[in-house]
Amino acid sequence: MGDGAIAIIQGAKRVSRSNDTDYPFRQSSDFWYLTGFDHPHAVAVLRTDGGPVYSLFVEPRDPEMETWNGFRPGVELAISEYAADEAHPIKAFHDKLPELVAGARRVFHVLGIDTALDEKLFQILHEMRLRSRHGVNPPDDIVDPRSALHEMRLHKDADELELMRRAADISREAHREAARLAHAGRNEYELEAVLDYTFRRRGSSGPAYSSIVGGGANATILHYVANDRPLADGQLLLIDAGCELEGYASDVTRTYPIGGTFGGPHRDVYDVVLEAQLIGLEASKPGTCLDEIHKATVRRLTVGMVELGLLEGDVDARIEDESFRRYYMHGTSHWLGLDVHDVGNYTVDGGSRALVPGMVFSVEPGIYIPDDDMQAPETLRGIGVRIEDNVVVTRDGHENLTVAIPKSPPEIEAWVRDGTPS
Ligand code: GLY
Ligand code: MN
Ligand code: MN
Repeated sequence: MGDGAIAIIQGAKRVSRSNDTDYPFRQSSDFWYLTGFDHPHAVAVLRTDGGPVYSLFVEPRDPEMETWNGFRPGVELAISEYAADEAHPIKAFHDKLPELVAGARRVFHVLGIDTALDEKLFQILHEMRLRSRHGVNPPDDIVDPRSALHEMRLHKDADELELMRRAADISREAHREAARLAHAGRNEYELEAVLDYTFRRRGSSGPAYSSIVGGGANATILHYVANDRPLADGQLLLIDAGCELEGYASDVTRTYPIGGTFGGPHRDVYDVVLEAQLIGLEASKPGTCLDEIHKATVRRLTVGMVELGLLEGDVDARIEDESFRRYYMHGTSHWLGLDVHDVGNYTVDGGSRALVPGMVFSVEPGIYIPDDDMQAPETLRGIGVRIEDNVVVTRDGHENLTVAIPKSPPEIEAWVRDGTPS
């Protein structure tokens, strides 16, 4: 922040779902990262201008409201449990703002989210300017804190990585329990329920994103979340599901043969995606970049697409004209952390940034062949395969956080066969 600055960091508020019910509360990732305070409607103020370094504005204790909606730490625990230097009721925040800003040369604040707060801040700066003849100097800059904060979040420390390993372990168990139900006659939502149950039973708050449980051609819809169709023999099942643990996401995709045996064309597509994924993992090490991982993965997928008869002609030409995108239309990797598509810049000076130890990301190639794609060989239509792991860059290469979730065809088949048909 530099000296002489203050940062205003806003927590998340309750969000109405319908009439008088709210969505389950989820703290803002930035606020959670800095404070560990998991209650709605709070603001943190960080100062390097000589004032208290860390102030929290929170909903105060209120026996009646707590009877209805649950415990609030209030201003007392904001200090004793959350290590704030001082704390105030949230409703005092706007009135205290002039005093907070008074001695600062620079204000870190995200504009455009809470327009009432933006207006208040502009008004304070305007009034300070009017008093400049009396020696009052408004801050020179309003700076977006996210660039600095998100750079911090991109580089995970040992405690964060330990949470992500535990999240991966819970996701492993959830995939195993769901795979056991990958049999004809089951419905996609039954498997989703088992994922949710396993996430919660193991102490996670639930899925880190809407679980995708897609049988047959539903696996070719990238963000399929309806999860309401029966499973049938002769189909593949794509499950993209990972839990959130203490705010940290896991993000895992496996593709299972319904009934427990990969049919010929399914296996052909699966093998291409698996080889591409292994190549992507192999390339995950310090000094390389996500763009290189993507390129290596795309090359293997495109070779496979030509071999499978999905594309024609020369592999280099099909990469060059991007016709592989007909069947592989998304990127191979994204940062992973407190958000499933985590924060942090992907490029530096216009180029893909070099990977360094502590960065966590997904490696998730796939091939998706729509069932009405008349250009594709008939036996391949309606097949969707994705394989997704989560890796952290280490000094020597990478650690695959989700390595314990099987993906070789025999192991995948064994997981499904271990279950019972409905
Ligand atoms: N589940 C979201 C993704 O894989 O990016
Ligand atoms: Mn992903
Ligand atoms: Mn995913």
